[in-house]
Amino acid sequence: MSDSDRLVTAARAAREHAVAPYSGFKVGAALVTAEGVIYGGCNVENATYGLTVCAERVALLKALSEGARQFVEIAVVADTDAPTPPCGPCRQLLWEYCGDIPVVMANLTRVSATHQLSTLLPLPFDARLLSSTDASDD
Ligand code: THU
Repeated sequence: MSDSDRLVTAARAAREHAVAPYSGFKVGAALVTAEGVIYGGCNVENATYGLTVCAERVALLKALSEGARQFVEIAVVADTDAPTPPCGPCRQLLWEYCGDIPVVMANLTRVSATHQLSTLLPLPFDARLLSSTDASDD
């Protein structure tokens, strides 16, 4: 099994734990570090709806909270024919902490698409822009 296949398998397993009683749309994600450690995540919904956390963010925050800092790839799995790409806020956070990693999108049986994060988020806001602020504007 290739590393990418392993990651998709982990995302499928994480999806099994999805807490999605409101949408019924279960998502799993798996993020692999440079050392080969895989962190899984699933979406966790809430009755307010707005407090829902996506699978990608759960995987990322789990990894960061365990001390992981170098990431090489993420897989996202949903039970759909079309690829399920990360939502906008997840793209932003993945960019901040993972950089330009490949995002593998798959369903329960096959990989449907793979895109670099820079393709999904072509003009990101990030810390580089904070340091280019012109102090004379203050
Ligand atoms: N969702 C994710 O977890 N990841 C995505 O990439 C897209 C959307 C979740 C959020 C919500 O629980 C459900 O899918 C429907 O939007």
